[in-house]
Amino acid sequence: MASSGAINSIEHAVMGPTKYSLATRLPLSSGLSIPQIHLGVYLMSGREAGQAVKWALASGYQAVDSAQMYRNEAESGKAIREFLEDKSLNTQGLRREDIFFTSKLASNSDYTRARSAIKKSVETCGLGYIDLFLLHSPYGGKTARLASWKAVEDAVKDGEVRIGGVSNFGVKHLEELIASKPDMLPAVNQIEVHPFNTRTSITDFCQKNGIVVEAYAPLARAMRMQHPAIVKLSNKYQCTPAQLMVRWSLQHGFIPLPKSVSKERIEANGKIDFFEITKPDMETMDGLDEYLVTDWDPVDTD
Ligand SMILES: NC(=O)c1ccc[n+]([C@@H]2O[C@H](COP(=O)([O-])OP(=O)(O)OC[C@H]3O[C@@H](n4cnc5c(N)ncnc54)[C@H](OP(=O)(O)O)[C@@H]3O)[C@@H](O)[C@H]2O)c1
Repeated sequence: MASSGAINSIEHAVMGPTKYSLATRLPLSSGLSIPQIHLGVYLMSGREAGQAVKWALASGYQAVDSAQMYRNEAESGKAIREFLEDKSLNTQGLRREDIFFTSKLASNSDYTRARSAIKKSVETCGLGYIDLFLLHSPYGGKTARLASWKAVEDAVKDGEVRIGGVSNFGVKHLEELIASKPDMLPAVNQIEVHPFNTRTSITDFCQKNGIVVEAYAPLARAMRMQHPAIVKLSNKYQCTPAQLMVRWSLQHGFIPLPKSVSKERIEANGKIDFFEITKPDMETMDGLDEYLVTDWDPVDTD
């Protein structure tokens, strides 16, 4: 039987429920739902992505975050298809609609180019449709952003994409898009968020406007695993620093996208149901903010 996963309420999206599993889903403004933990496949070769996606799905993940720029949409999609067809791996009998695949537009330019780039991604992944398609960044200026968003809307209307969203959008970019009165609002904004870069102005704006925050680099790209506060709290909760950071993200109502090429780490990063971070400890972690940027930082671009 296919599993649709537990759907949390919007209230829980803000406060965080006590229990999470890899099948936990959050409701979106579009009316559809999204798994709350995704495997990120950035900086993986095609071969690594194919292997990591299979390990992740076999251990219970139901979502994969790829992009045109990662150059592994084909191998990620192929691994999903092979997993679904392999009864020895797909022991729950999951179907295509139970697995959530994300890709992103490499660059904003004009409507025609964006529209054909989206079609190309759908073809490349071989999954029939893409669950979530994002503008990867706000770069390119207002005209390119709005034209590219129109292309995402039309891809949703044409059934190539289920849900549209944005990534690396600052508050001003979201306000610009909302002010343009689009046919569809972005259901998610994928931004860098972890205890060392909390970006509360963007996350607060998103949560007030019904836009779910996807937290990229949720492990702070492994740059702060030895931070004394992280080590202390990991010891307290008998978890790894990575599990602590994934759990922090979930309890804030975000969607963390931890990346790993290691089978053991992929499995461990998704096992976050055996502890709950207390409110004071969440506040301690919130206080670690140092605006640590692990990759690019387009949120202020014009
Ligand atoms: N929209 C955007 O602009 C954007 C930008 C960046 C990332 N993303 C998305 O977000 C995902 C995650 O971000 P990210 O890959 O930059 O960083 P991340 O998930 O925060 O960290 C990944 C790093 O942590 C290591 N790691 C994973 N699990 C670990 C564990 N349990 N213990 C110790 N180290 C561990 C990984 O090494 P190993 O692989 O060797 O385990 C890798 O070096 C990406 O894959 C991508 O899907 C989106």
